[in-house]
Amino acid sequence: MSHSPASSELISLRQELAGIVGASHLREDLGPEHGAKLMALPASTEEVAALVQLCAARGVSIVPEGGGTGLVGGTLSQPGQLVISLTRMAKIEAIYPDERVAVVQAGVPLEVLQSAAALHGLEPGIDLPARGTATIGGMVSTNAGGIMAHRYGVMRHRVLGLEAVLPDGQIYSDLTRVVKNAAGYDLKHLFIGAEGTLGLVTRVVLKLEPLPAASATVLLGLPSFDAALQAINLAMKTEIGHLRGAEGLWQSYIRLTAQAHGWSEPSFPLDQPVNLLLMLGGGDEAALQGAIEGIFGSILEAYPSATGIIAASKRQEADLWRLREDTDVLYRTHKAAPSYDVSVPLSEIAGYVDHVTQGLAALDGGIKPYVFGHLADGNLHIVLDRTGPMAPGLTASVEEVLYAPLRALGGSFSAEHGVGSKRIGSLIATVDAGKLQMMTQLKRTLDPGNLLNPGKVLSLKS
Ligand code: LAC
Ligand code: ZN
Repeated sequence: MSHSPASSELISLRQELAGIVGASHLREDLGPEHGAKLMALPASTEEVAALVQLCAARGVSIVPEGGGTGLVGGTLSQPGQLVISLTRMAKIEAIYPDERVAVVQAGVPLEVLQSAAALHGLEPGIDLPARGTATIGGMVSTNAGGIMAHRYGVMRHRVLGLEAVLPDGQIYSDLTRVVKNAAGYDLKHLFIGAEGTLGLVTRVVLKLEPLPAASATVLLGLPSFDAALQAINLAMKTEIGHLRGAEGLWQSYIRLTAQAHGWSEPSFPLDQPVNLLLMLGGGDEAALQGAIEGIFGSILEAYPSATGIIAASKRQEADLWRLREDTDVLYRTHKAAPSYDVSVPLSEIAGYVDHVTQGLAALDGGIKPYVFGHLADGNLHIVLDRTGPMAPGLTASVEEVLYAPLRALGGSFSAEHGVGSKRIGSLIATVDAGKLQMMTQLKRTLDPGNLLNPGKVLSLKS
C-alpha cells in the first residue's frame, strides 16, 4: 500500500483540491460502498492532471471511478485515499460520420454514445447490459467485452487513440484518429485493461460501425450445448444480415429471470438444458425474420426436441432480451452472490460446464451455478446460488473447480470483468510467471509511488 495520511492531513488538502475542481465538486458524503471519505469530480483533463500532481506531491493515493458497474472491486477505496470520479467529463467531443470515428470524454455512458452515433446510422460496435451506466473510460480501463465481441472485438480493438493522466500528473496524449498507426510501441494498450493502475484515461477515440436498420431475434430451447454451437454456426454463416448476439441461458438462469418477470409461453416450457438467444441485424426486417426462421427450421431438423420463439414485435424482442440481461435478479435472489467470468474455447464449453456443475455439487452443501453468457466468443458468467461472501476455504475450493482446467484449455479466469481487488489471488495463481514479473516491473516503473489505484490488479508492497 502507498502512504495513506491520516484523515486530518487529508482535510488540510481540501482547500487545494477545491481550488482545482471548485468546492461544489468535492464530495464528502460518500456512500457506504466507498471506504474513502473524499471524492473530486474534475471537469477537464487539466483538472485531473492538477489533482494527480497534488496527490503525488502529498503521497495521497487515488482511486478512479467511472459508472460503478464493475464486479471485481476495482473501485474499492480506503480512508485517506482520494476518489476521482470522471462522471462530469461526459462530453461527446466529436463524431466524424464519414470516418466512422467518435472522440469522447471518459465519463460518457455507453448508451449516450450509442444514441448519438445512431443519429448518423452508426454504433460503437460494443454493447453490454450495463450500457445505461457504464462509462467509456471505465470500459476502456477494464477492456470490456459484451455482446458483440465475436464480431467487433473487445474494447481494445475499438480504441484508435486515447489520452491519459500519468501517475506523475503528466498528460499522455495520443488522439490518433486512424486505424493504421505503426509508429513504434503502441502504448495506448498499456492503459486499456489496466484498471487505472498505470494512468487515468480521460479521452478516447473510438471506431464506430454501421448500425443495421433492422433486427430479428429468436430464443431457442436446446437439448445440448452442441445444438447451441450448431445454431451459432448457422447464424454466423447467414446470407442475410449478420449475427449480432448469441447469448446462452442455461436452465436455472432462465427459470429465475422468467419467474422474476412473470414471463411464460406455453410453446416454450423452460425444461431444456440450454437456451440460446440469437439476434441477426441487417437492412430488411422481413428478410431477417425469414433467415431466423430458416435457422430455427434447420435446428429442428437436427434436434427435433428443440423449441423456439421468434420475436414478432420490438416489444417481444425486448422481453426476450430482458430474460438474459436482467442479471440484477440474481443478486436480489442471492445477496452479493459470488460471481465469476471465465472464457472457454467454444469446443470445450460442454465439457467445462459439466465439470463445473459436478465439481460445485460435490462441495460443501452442494453449490448450484447459474450459467449464462456470450456464447459466440466463449465467455461464460457463472453465479453461485449462495449469499456472499463465502468462507475463504469454500471460495478456494470453488476457484479450484472453476479455474483449474482453464489454463490447459487455453481459456481465461477473467474474460471481461477484470482483476480489480477481488481476483488478484486468481491472477497470481494462474498467470505465467514471466507475465506477472513484467506486469510488476511496468507498474513499478510507471507508478513508483504506487499512487494510482493501489491494490488493484497487482498487490505491491511499496
Ligand atoms: C453481463 C455482464 C455480467 O454480460 O457482463 O450481463
Ligand atoms: Zn458479460
